[in-house]
Amino acid sequence: MPSPTPPEPGLAPPIVITGEVVHGEKRGRAMGFPTANIAPTPGSKLPPEGVYCCLVRLPQRPAMFGATVSVGSNPTFADITSVRVEAHIHDFDEQLYGLRLELHLVHRLRDMHRFAGPAELIAQMQRDVISSRQLLARLGVAAP
Ligand SMILES: Cc1cc2nc3c(=O)[nH]c(=O)nc-3n(C[C@H](O)[C@H](O)[C@H](O)COP(=O)(O)O)c2cc1C
Repeated sequence: MPSPTPPEPGLAPPIVITGEVVHGEKRGRAMGFPTANIAPTPGSKLPPEGVYCCLVRLPQRPAMFGATVSVGSNPTFADITSVRVEAHIHDFDEQLYGLRLELHLVHRLRDMHRFAGPAELIAQMQRDVISSRQLLARLGVAAP
C-alpha cells in the first residue's frame, strides 16, 4: 500500500493544467469513480505522476469544484501505455466531453501505484477522495 505524502508546512502555488475533456476507457464509472479525461493543451508541462487534490474551473461556472486528480499511466491496467490526466470531480455528474477545463492541483497526495486489481484500487481511491475533501475543507475552498 503506498504511504501518503507527509503533510507540508505550506502549500506551493497550484500547478495548472488546461485541456479538453476526451473519451477514456470508461472504467471509472463502473468502479464508482467517474473521471473527466483531460487532453492537456499541447506544450503543457505535466507534474510528476501521482494523485493530487485539486480545484477545477468549468466553463460558464463562477465557483470552482473540488476534485481528486490522477496523473499517470494507470499501471493497474496493462492496456494503458500513455500518461493520462483524469479528474474525479466531487459531487458532480454531468457530461463534460469537448469542454475545456482548468485543473488547479493544490497538493500532491501520493505516488501512482500498481494495484493487484480493481478492488484494491477502488479502496485506495476512496481514501484519496476523503483526504482530498478534507484538505479542501481545511483550506475553506470546498465542502468536505
Ligand atoms: C483518485 C484516483 C486515484 C487513482 N490512482 C491510481 C493508481 O494509483 N493506480 C492506477 O493504476 N490508476 C489510478 N487511477 C486511475 C484509474 O485507473 C482510472 O481513473 C480508471 O481506470 C478509469 O479510467 P478511464 O476514465 O479511462 O476509464 C486513479 C484515479 C483516481 C480518480
